[in-house]
Amino acid sequence: MDFENRIVAPEFSGEDGDVEYSLRPKTLNEYIGQEKAKENLSVFIEAARRRGEALDHVLLHGPPGLGKTTLSNIIANEMNVSIRVTSGPAIEKQGDLAALLTNLAPGDILFIDEIHRLNRSVEEVLYPAMEDFALDIIIGKGPSARSIRIDLPKFTLIGATTRSGQLSAPLRDRFGVMLRLELYTVEELATIIRRSAEILDISCTRQGSIELARRSRGTPRIANRLLKRVRDFAQVIGDGIITDEIAAHALDRLDIDPLGLDAIDRRMLTTIIRNYGGGPVGLDTLAAAINEESVTLEDVYEPYLMQIGFLTRTPRGRCVTHLAYEHLGIPQPIGQMKDLEQLNLMDLNTNK
Ligand code: ADE
Repeated sequence: MDFENRIVAPEFSGEDGDVEYSLRPKTLNEYIGQEKAKENLSVFIEAARRRGEALDHVLLHGPPGLGKTTLSNIIANEMNVSIRVTSGPAIEKQGDLAALLTNLAPGDILFIDEIHRLNRSVEEVLYPAMEDFALDIIIGKGPSARSIRIDLPKFTLIGATTRSGQLSAPLRDRFGVMLRLELYTVEELATIIRRSAEILDISCTRQGSIELARRSRGTPRIANRLLKRVRDFAQVIGDGIITDEIAAHALDRLDIDPLGLDAIDRRMLTTIIRNYGGGPVGLDTLAAAINEESVTLEDVYEPYLMQIGFLTRTPRGRCVTHLAYEHLGIPQPIGQMKDLEQLNLMDLNTNK
């Protein structure tokens, strides 16, 4: 199984399509979870609205599938402005960005997904645009070249990224508001699942929603996708109602275990255990061993494995914890436990 076809991949896929759109909440009140980000955001939105000004530029960062695009659409809705949606890799030339910016109306939002993938020359156009609401355009070449400045409407840039560490400092510094989105709790996901079930007219018991939530890796996009898959099982092997038994049975058959781990997660953990004695092993070495890209491991697999305490990042590399050994049913060598405890302490101390 490759990672694009994973049912628990947090990235948007074609099959999420229209349904994902219909499930997206339209207001902050409808948006479940991310309480801290939501509370702060509602203050900034209210203040900007009262002053009749554009909202400050916002950077949303966190793992994929947590609702960065949804939240941006909600911000536009709450501010009563239009939003233009694009992404870092889609803006190839300075002129592409200039065209987007000059077509905005005052207060409008420009949403740039994967903003860490903007190229340098495009990024340079963004600095004066964000700071002074101006475009500096060079006309001509060589000694006769001159620069003219075009005023832009006061707009709001919302940037989304899975890797805020990869943003250049000048770009990061120009965002007035930085919001970190966290993986969702089981309770929050269960609430999202029941809301989605209602919209899609699917019967799902409370226990059924919790079983689904437990296996959704903290990610609403995965929860909604699993809901649709499990509905099929409920209709074919049950009476159409998603109970905890049906959810567990269906997800077992899809090879998604009780904590939401799939074959690739398990392969990653068992590789660290079997080939590298439980770690530490460097990210690139591990990525090569399981034939994945390092960035994919870091952005997609690791956040959830770290959240459930199966994996730690230490200064010397990745280590699996005793919880992972227990979950996988692999006995942990006695001598290793002490080493790991020490590494985990280092992990806490270095804050990495
Ligand atoms: N669907 C996807 N994410 C959601 C969220 N945070 N709240 C409500 N519904 C959602």
